[in-house]
Amino acid sequence: MARLFFALWPAKPARAALAAWAATQASACGGRPVPEGNLHLTLVFLGEVDASRIEALRQLAQDVAGSAFTLTLDRIGEFRRTGVVWAGCRRAPAGLLGLQAALERAIREAGFSPDDRPFAPHLTLVRRTRDPVNPQDIEPVSWCPKAFALVEAARGKGTYRTLAEWPLGEEKT
Ligand code: 2AM
Repeated sequence: MARLFFALWPAKPARAALAAWAATQASACGGRPVPEGNLHLTLVFLGEVDASRIEALRQLAQDVAGSAFTLTLDRIGEFRRTGVVWAGCRRAPAGLLGLQAALERAIREAGFSPDDRPFAPHLTLVRRTRDPVNPQDIEPVSWCPKAFALVEAARGKGTYRTLAEWPLGEEKT
């Protein structure tokens, strides 16, 4: 079995800016900042999948026609129950919502049962916080994702391995 999810990985400058926010937030509210190389925005979380079905995921992802878009993270908030501080968007771009919906639809049509909760775009900055965080607008951090990825989470290690990536097409204007 493999613990899998589809995600967007920030480009280098955005990643550095987000890592700085993670450090700032962790020093303000306790908890563990997510290491810079692990920062990502999950599109669809699949959970444990039999390794024999990874090929089906590769096939369906290939047919998902996502267009490029600019992703701007301009807000920090928290999931208090789980002690997660995240960066999110005041207004999610249509390209992000379209890509996520198309991917989730294809995954369900192929017989997988991904997480049912409505998509709440967020990029986790800090885990296991001690104190509450004040939701706040931040200096926007933007990048234009060039691809989306199928990623495996290594059990118990907190590391990720990209299994495959698919490019996003020309940005719609
Ligand atoms: P998180 O950042 O909010 O914790 C790898 O674990 C990725 O999948 C993380 O981005 C994580 O979201 C997400 N994830 C983990 N468990 C999940 C679940 N049960 N439902 C949805 N997403 C999940």
